[in-house]
Amino acid sequence: MTARKKVLTVSSANMDFVMSVRRVPEAGETLQDPGTYSFIPGGKGANAAVSFRRLGGDSVFCTRLGNDQNGARLRQIYNAEGIDTRFIATDPQAPTGLAAIMVEPTGQNRIIVFPGANLMICEKDIDAAMLSKPDALFMQMEISHEAVLTAARYASERQVPIFLDAGPADPSFPLSELPPLEVFSPNETETEIFTGIRPSDPDACLRATIALSAKVEAHYYVIKLGGRGCYIYDGKYYHCLPAYDLPVVDTTAAGDAFTSALTLEYLRSGDIERAGKYANIVGSLSVGVRGALPSLPTEAAVERFAAENGIFD
Ligand code: ATP
Ligand code: RIB
Repeated sequence: MTARKKVLTVSSANMDFVMSVRRVPEAGETLQDPGTYSFIPGGKGANAAVSFRRLGGDSVFCTRLGNDQNGARLRQIYNAEGIDTRFIATDPQAPTGLAAIMVEPTGQNRIIVFPGANLMICEKDIDAAMLSKPDALFMQMEISHEAVLTAARYASERQVPIFLDAGPADPSFPLSELPPLEVFSPNETETEIFTGIRPSDPDACLRATIALSAKVEAHYYVIKLGGRGCYIYDGKYYHCLPAYDLPVVDTTAAGDAFTSALTLEYLRSGDIERAGKYANIVGSLSVGVRGALPSLPTEAAVERFAAENGIFD
């Protein structure tokens, strides 16, 4: 039996205000919509931290919440999920992060994030969280550049492998200041922003990953390709791994589900191709459920799907 892996996530936490709409309004238009709205826990970092637990890992979460109702509610939810919440700080001033999300009937979403307390994560928070002695550091870009670079430096100095999801797209992020990573994982848009190449087919994916490797040093480059699955490049060999054709209700958090699953399964197996297949199952299952946190599948659901479809036979 593989030992349980412990992942430290240094990243964001949000309350998502989710509106299911027939269509999004045009500029200047007021739309009355019979659809539903709800407050659902989300935030890229929180989605990943919860996913690590649901998939059978140990999860330590370093973030900042506001001193408000959303912050208190989210902390309660993370505790109930079994996350180590000792390194979640409460910011005295900034509010808890909020994302306004509109989801159309196709499952396609549009998101605006108000980062609030997420931007206040600082070196002191990261220094404390590193005491948890993680097997890996996982991050996305929904916190300050300085926080990402600081956490990466701390991990690199302690030989902790770093897994970096490049979302949300930010062309001003100084990729060249990062230490060597284990995995760098952009989606299609982020790949195009960092390289100028749209990863529309395997040839373009190869050109894009080669271009990425000139900007950021990583053992593996993993491009998330939505319904087309993912593309993995290690500097020499590549794998194109398909997603699974499952009903699409809401794609929110598919990327977080994918990269957290890739990270955990790679730590467990040391096999990046297997980790890519596992991550595609998790990403594909997640798009079938509305909302961020509720859509993250459990280890049991993933194993059932893999067995029924002979994925690891
Ligand atoms: P998001 O920002 O919506 O959270 P992302 O843009 O970071 O996601 P995607 O490439 O859209 O990431 O999706 C991540 C993974 O989820 C894909 O690699 C794939 O495994 C799965 N996935 C996404 N969309 C679909 C879909 N329509 N059908 C099946 N699987 C999907
Ligand atoms: O990746 C999905 C997440 O992006 C949502 O939960 C929302 O909070 C935004 O951060």
